[in-house]
Amino acid sequence: MFACRQVGKSYRTERGVVNAVAGIDLDVPAGRFAAIIGRSGSGKSTLMAMIGGLSRPSAGTIEVGGTDVWRLSETALAAFRNEKIGYVFQFASLLPTLRLIDNVALPAMLGRRQSTAATYTRASGLLDRMGLGGYLDAYPSEISAGEQRRAAIARALINDPALLLADEPTSDLDEQTEIEIMDELLAVNRELGTTLVLVTHNLALAEQAEQIVHIANGAIVA
Ligand SMILES: Nc1ncnc2c1ncn2[C@@H]1O[C@H](COP(=O)(O)OP(=O)(O)OP(=O)(O)O)[C@@H](O)[C@H]1O
Ligand SMILES: [Mg+2]
Repeated sequence: MFACRQVGKSYRTERGVVNAVAGIDLDVPAGRFAAIIGRSGSGKSTLMAMIGGLSRPSAGTIEVGGTDVWRLSETALAAFRNEKIGYVFQFASLLPTLRLIDNVALPAMLGRRQSTAATYTRASGLLDRMGLGGYLDAYPSEISAGEQRRAAIARALINDPALLLADEPTSDLDEQTEIEIMDELLAVNRELGTTLVLVTHNLALAEQAEQIVHIANGAIVA
């Protein structure tokens, strides 16, 4: 599904150069559930952002589904992200001025591969699946943090992505909600065959993965 070769990212700051990720080689086959673990500041989110086509590596190459992501033009990259990749971030990321149903439909409306009616039917089905069928017209501020995270998963799935990147999707949530959200992500991986990459601090969760990637100081620990 994707392959990282000698991927690195350094940031120039006032304190000097920070090597957030340094020389990562990583292969994750299609359909797999892979977990990324490591201490705070080890480079997990930076790596996810590069794989997801959101942050350009300072070194190395990343292929997703055979495409050399960082050789695409800006326009092609935007289309690629929209079509192939779903994201669930560490913090809430729904647009506050849109209803849940519009938030979920938005990535499909941008891609314009389906009619508006079909998109909204699909969006409502996904929200229903995430247990939010009664909240289609609610605004993000009117629902709980866990419900917002579930809506974000529905949004991530609207374009049926081949790759789902989840960066601590259950951070700050209670244990029961965490289990429910993880069950949804695992069901997507198993039932739809979506490749799932999950960053988590929960080792019990990580142990359910087929592949565990341990990162320390921007590098993979063997
Ligand atoms: N925009 C930036 N500018 C400068 N340094 C950055 C930037 N983003 C991240 N870093 C640094 O890169 C390193 C890796 O950060 P990253 O967010 O990838 O860590 P993480 O493993 O996701 O941590 P956490 O578990 O806390 O989310 C950290 O030392 C961080 O301070
Ligand atoms: Mg992070």
